[in-house]
Amino acid sequence: MESGIRHVLESQQFDRELLEKLFKATDACRHTIDHHNEISAGLTTRLRGRIMLQLFYEPSTRTRFSFFMAGKRLGMDVCWTENAREFSSAIKGETLEDTIRILCEFGPHVIVLRHHETGAAVRAAAVSTVPIINAGDGSGQHPTQALLDIYTIWKSFGHVAGLKVAMMGDLANGRTVRSLSYLLTKFSEVKIIFISPPHLTMSNDIKTWLAGKGVDFQETDSPFPALYEADVVYCTRIQKERGGQMSDDDTQRFQIGTREMSWLKPKTIVMHPLPRNAEIATEVDSDPRAKYFEQAGNGMYIRMALLLWVLGEEI
Ligand code: CP
Repeated sequence: MESGIRHVLESQQFDRELLEKLFKATDACRHTIDHHNEISAGLTTRLRGRIMLQLFYEPSTRTRFSFFMAGKRLGMDVCWTENAREFSSAIKGETLEDTIRILCEFGPHVIVLRHHETGAAVRAAAVSTVPIINAGDGSGQHPTQALLDIYTIWKSFGHVAGLKVAMMGDLANGRTVRSLSYLLTKFSEVKIIFISPPHLTMSNDIKTWLAGKGVDFQETDSPFPALYEADVVYCTRIQKERGGQMSDDDTQRFQIGTREMSWLKPKTIVMHPLPRNAEIATEVDSDPRAKYFEQAGNGMYIRMALLLWVLGEEI
C-alpha cells in the first residue's frame, strides 16, 4: 500500500482515498502487535538501519514518544533534541533552514519537527533532502494529530460521513482543531459546531475554507444545546503559550463534567488531543464515552504507518 507522500506538512495533503488507505495501513500496524505487545517479525525489522531525527523546539509528551516508539517498533534508530530552542545552535542565532541543511549532511532518513513558528515545517521541507514530518508548527497545523483524531472517529463509528462534530475551547490558538477541520471536509454530510467564548473563535481562514467546501458549520458561545446534538465532542485546552486566556467563569462553562456527560447521547464520544487542564474533569475518565487516552494510543499506530509511507515501504 503506497501513498506517494514524501513530506507530511499539512492536513490538506490527504484526500479521502489516502485517508482510507491510511486507516487500513494503521490497522495493519495495530494488528501486528499481539496481546503480549510483540510485533510480528516482518515489521520489527522493516526500517532497520534507518534513522529518525526528532527536532523539537517545543515541549511534547505524546507526539515525541509515540513517534519514538513507532520508530523503535519498526527497527529504527532514533536521535533527538527535545528543547532545540535552548539545546541547539538556534540559541546562537542559527536559522531553521541552516539547521535542517546541516542535519541532512549527517544522513538521517526522516526528520520529525515540532516548532513554535507557523509554517516552519514547510520552510524545513523546502531545504531538506529527507522527508519532514510536521509534529506541530506554532498555531499552524498538527497534521499527524488530526490523522490520529480522524482515525479514532472512524474506529469508533465505522464511518465519518454524516457525523456532527463539536469542537470546544480555545479555537483561536489551537492547531489541532485547524488540522482536524481540514480533514473533516473530506467526508460528506459532516456538520461542525465550534463552541468557544467570543474572543477565542475559530479563525476566518478555516471558516472560509469550510464554506468553500460546502461544509455545514455553526459557531456558538454556549455549550448547550450544541453538546446535546453532537456525535463527537472534541475539547481543547487554553493555549497559554500562544496568548490564549480564559476567565475562571468561562473555564467552568466550557468544561466537560458529569453534568455535561448527562447531556450527551449514549454513543457520543469525547476526545481531547491532550494534555488537558480543566477542560475535562477526571470523573469523566471512567465513562466509556471518554476516548482521549485511547485516542493518544492510536497515535503510535498512525505514526508507524506514516513512517513506513514516507520511507517508501509498503505495509
Ligand atoms: N497532543 C499533543 O500534541 O501532545 P504533546 O504536545 O504532548 O505531543
